[in-house]
Amino acid sequence: MKKTILSGSTVTGDLTLGNYIGAINNWTQLQDDYDCLYFLADLHALTVQQDPKLLKERTYSFLAQYVALGLDPQKNIIFAQSHVHQHAELMWILSCLTPMGNLNRMTQFKEKSEKHTKNINAGLFTYPTLMAADILLYQADKVPVGEDQKQHIELCRDLVTYFSNRYGEGILKMPEPFIAKTGARIMSLQDPTKKMSKSDENEKNFVSVIDDAKKIEKKIKSATTDSDIVVKYDLENKPGLANLLTIYSVLSKKSYETLEKEYEGKMYGHLKGDLANLVVETLAPVKIKYDDLMKNRDYLDQVLKQGADKASQRAQVTLGKVYDAVGLVRRP
Ligand code: TYM
Repeated sequence: MKKTILSGSTVTGDLTLGNYIGAINNWTQLQDDYDCLYFLADLHALTVQQDPKLLKERTYSFLAQYVALGLDPQKNIIFAQSHVHQHAELMWILSCLTPMGNLNRMTQFKEKSEKHTKNINAGLFTYPTLMAADILLYQADKVPVGEDQKQHIELCRDLVTYFSNRYGEGILKMPEPFIAKTGARIMSLQDPTKKMSKSDENEKNFVSVIDDAKKIEKKIKSATTDSDIVVKYDLENKPGLANLLTIYSVLSKKSYETLEKEYEGKMYGHLKGDLANLVVETLAPVKIKYDDLMKNRDYLDQVLKQGADKASQRAQVTLGKVYDAVGLVRRP
């Protein structure tokens, strides 16, 4: 029996190089050896105000980005969260077990409520409980994510313990986070003390996986570094350069040491130019495939339907067990 992997991305903006390096690049490497489910977190997107038309368009766009980045719909179950109603239902059960204090400690809630001061809604607060439902419905063994999601997965693990203590062991499986050693936190290009985020208002801070070559070049070449000239990985003193070296290292599969040697005696400008070329080379085929997929709505609908059918069946098995365990009568 293959182990089960589940992960997803919230449908806002476009996927960035951070999402690719921290998560999706790893998802594609797992698809042959694991039973994988990858979903489009459209319900999570509603925690910030969305233009309804744009959200619909983005859901297709994200699906096309997933596939263009290498997720094969034949090997993975790819689906939209809102197509599987069991996510919202399990979330309710888990909400009744989630202490407010645990949610209050979530860094992302604190950050987002500072950013969206006029829309601090209950969904933003209970967002990690929905995430737990996403994971637990499929009895996932591992959840491949970037560093920023670790705290949410810890909450999910706490909820498994609370649930098992109250209703019995073995109904919900304890998941493990799966976080890569390099690239789990790609930083903003202009401000390397901040995480690269797809919802950043300043486009210069991120490279989107569907940016064209010109944009990519401009963004990488204007990334903030420092006034030194030695190419060396030093996170504390040279955070901007360290971020570029991390991106370079993951995309080229070369270690920091190898890169430092290659750039001995060369200027930061050399490295930025070469890195820009490497990112363009990596993403150019993605953009071609993406444009092609976006012209084929029927195919995208077919992937969504197939994914939702398979995911729903599995989700219902877990939800049925949970409803039984908590004492809800099955519909006669
Ligand atoms: P989201 O959409 O913010 O990000 C998708 C994935 O990309 C990772 N990531 C990064 N990795 C490295 N550097 C960065 N700068 C960076 N930015 C984002 C994220 O860690 C994530 O793995 N809440 C989730 C979506 C979600 C989910 C789930 C994930 C909903 N339910 C259940 C796993 C399991 C989110 O908003 O990810």
